[in-house]
Amino acid sequence: MEKDSRITAVPLMLALVAAWTSCNTAFAKPDLARKEKAACSLCHVNPAGGPILSDTGKEYKEKNVIPQDAVPVPESRQAKYLGTDECQLCHMKVHKSWEGTVHAAAFKVLESKQSDKNAGCIACHSTGAGLPGGYAPDSDQADALKQVTCEACHGPGSLHATAANNQKKETINGSPGENLCRSCHIQRFSPNFEYVEWSKRGVHELTERK
Ligand code: HEC
Ligand code: HEC
Ligand code: HEC
Ligand code: HEC
Ligand code: HEC
Repeated sequence: MEKDSRITAVPLMLALVAAWTSCNTAFAKPDLARKEKAACSLCHVNPAGGPILSDTGKEYKEKNVIPQDAVPVPESRQAKYLGTDECQLCHMKVHKSWEGTVHAAAFKVLESKQSDKNAGCIACHSTGAGLPGGYAPDSDQADALKQVTCEACHGPGSLHATAANNQKKETINGSPGENLCRSCHIQRFSPNFEYVEWSKRGVHELTERK
């Protein structure tokens, strides 16, 4: 009996430590852009972020600092946040489907709790908070970037919106996955998150890609 409880105590403690760590370090992606005040394309091949890291990004991941010889990102490779109206112009069906998800009302929930000025809440209930051109209460774009919009998952879309058709895929994150979801769906706020099942409700219909 005594032996059994010792055996289960160790994994339980590890689980608690892991849960505690994730509560205190996880933050809506792109947390590193916020921390380093750098454009997505410094560390990502795609200027909207995503799974493929640039050489600088790989080095960053290893050493946790921006390497001194990192090449600065030219203005033309810095994507800005646009808001959903722009995306809707070319992605009408997806937009309509997104409007039916809970994410499209994520900021309203804060307003109803009088927490919409609380920086500790905004990060996961809006788009691009803390980033240049992202959600800020007094910005021109505040209304467009309330809620968890397209660009909260697909990254800032200004370069994508104006890109030539053969450059569209290279300018937006077309594969937001579990890592991204879990940057907001952390243990503390979303203890029951399960990627496959929750994707059926949380993600718009996938109808465009052939
Ligand atoms: C200073 C470097 C740096 C900057 C700037 C940065 N990222 Fe990242 N990002 C990373 C690293 C490193 C990872 C991988 C983290 C890991 O593997 O745990 C990552 C992971 C991600 C992921 C998860 C990818 C996946 O599916 O596994 C997304 C999405 C993302 N970043 C988006 C962005 C966006 C959007 C921006 C700009 C607004 C940005 N990042 C800016 C370094 C950066
Ligand atoms: C001017 C039209 C236009 C606008 C505006 C536009 N898109 Fe697109 N988007 C496209 C086209 C065309 C494709 C298909 C590219 C292809 O299949 O090669 C695409 C593809 C995508 C993809 C899939 C990429 C992939 O890897 O398959 C995503 C995600 C996306 N767009 C998101 C957005 C978001 C978010 C916005 C708003 C910030 C937006 N788009 C605005 C035209 C547009
Ligand atoms: C790290 C990201 C994150 C932060 C920070 C965050 N939330 Fe949330 N919040 C979520 C996620 C994810 C959900 C969906 C939870 C679920 O259904 O599992 C959620 C759901 C909610 C809900 C609706 C669910 C319910 O209980 O009815 C409310 C209300 C809410 N959050 C308020 C807040 C407030 C207030 C703050 C600031 C004190 C805050 N959130 C900070 C990610 C976050
Ligand atoms: C920028 C932060 C953020 C990201 C990224 C994010 N979510 Fe959410 N999600 C939220 C918040 C906040 C809520 C709660 C909104 C509310 O209650 O109004 C939520 C709610 C949900 C819900 C509804 C929960 C319920 O109880 O019905 C589902 C499902 C969901 N998210 C799935 C996903 C999936 C799947 C991904 C990744 C593809 C994802 N989310 C990415 C912030 C995020
Ligand atoms: C909660 C995260 C989330 C939000 C918000 C979101 N998407 Fe997506 N989107 C995804 C995921 C996940 C996929 C599937 C990725 C894959 O196939 O790897 C996807 C796929 C796509 C595709 C690929 C085409 C398809 O139908 O398969 C397009 C285009 C797209 N999204 C556009 C948008 C637009 C426009 C918005 C806003 C109106 C939006 N997304 C909002 C997560 C999100």
